[in-house]
Amino acid sequence: MSTTGRTALVTGASAGIGASFAHHLAAKNYDVILVARRASRLHELASDLRSRYGVRAEVVAADLSAPEGPTTVVDRATELGIPVDVLINNAGLSSSTKFSATPWNAVAAELQLMVTSVTELTHLVTPGMKDRRWGRIVNLSSLAALSPPGEGLLYTGIKTYVLNMSQSLDMELKPFGINVTALCPGFTHSEFHDVMGTRDAADRLPRFMWQQPEDVVAEGWAAVMAGKPVCTPGIVNKISAAAMRPIPQRIQYILGRTFNPFK
Ligand SMILES: NC(=O)c1ccc[n+]([C@@H]2O[C@H](COP(=O)([O-])OP(=O)(O)OC[C@H]3O[C@@H](n4cnc5c(N)ncnc54)[C@H](OP(=O)(O)O)[C@@H]3O)[C@@H](O)[C@H]2O)c1
Repeated sequence: MSTTGRTALVTGASAGIGASFAHHLAAKNYDVILVARRASRLHELASDLRSRYGVRAEVVAADLSAPEGPTTVVDRATELGIPVDVLINNAGLSSSTKFSATPWNAVAAELQLMVTSVTELTHLVTPGMKDRRWGRIVNLSSLAALSPPGEGLLYTGIKTYVLNMSQSLDMELKPFGINVTALCPGFTHSEFHDVMGTRDAADRLPRFMWQQPEDVVAEGWAAVMAGKPVCTPGIVNKISAAAMRPIPQRIQYILGRTFNPFK
């Protein structure tokens, strides 16, 4: 199917998995709208994508942890006259401080970025996708959503919400030609652990546990095109998720409390 004239909006495109999604989709001839806070990085990426792949690449610098973030982004796409055919809800991070030690404004920002903005962006772009009877949405969940909860961290709960809502929306939207996939990567090389402040602990984890963002993206994109509502990329992550599934919640609680490499 021709992708000429189709546009992908990628949040968190200034680094890691998001930047890799932008490359992957531009290489497949999708025009792209790149969203994150660091405008200079986005402009650099946009000019690289234009010269490498000859696609249209637009930059929207926006803070998705602010309540007005999603409407700012979609209003700009509308101003530019670009319909969003693909949404990659990727922007995210994990707080490194525990819940009760985190000021409420930081907790609210985390929820806004990875729960409300993800949901609102989806809500804003689906009417157009339904009218055109075609859309693809990838929501970045995490292997964390298929693993025991971490002590004092909202991240597991947030990514569990993303996993669950993606499946619900896929059920609703598939009849309109819209596929929704929750992508659940495990440890992936990016700036995630630098931002979280857990780089040293992350670097001590065995190499077999890690994936390159390009591999995560290729498997995630293939999954959404194939209409799979959940994708756990990589064999190690698949084994880990399958091994966790039958473990009773009582035991998962103990595992989550005991084995946290980032404590
Ligand atoms: N890396 C992993 O091991 C891993 C595993 C499972 C799931 N994930 C998920 O994958 C997604 C991408 O993470 P990554 O590993 O690629 O991390 P990363 O390299 O740190 O990239 C995160 C991206 O999110 C953007 N972002 C952060 N806060 C933002 C905000 N307030 N507004 C707009 N954009 C914001 C960042 O851009 P700016 O700073 O320029 O705004 C950056 O482009 C996240 O949802 C993460 O939870 C990652």
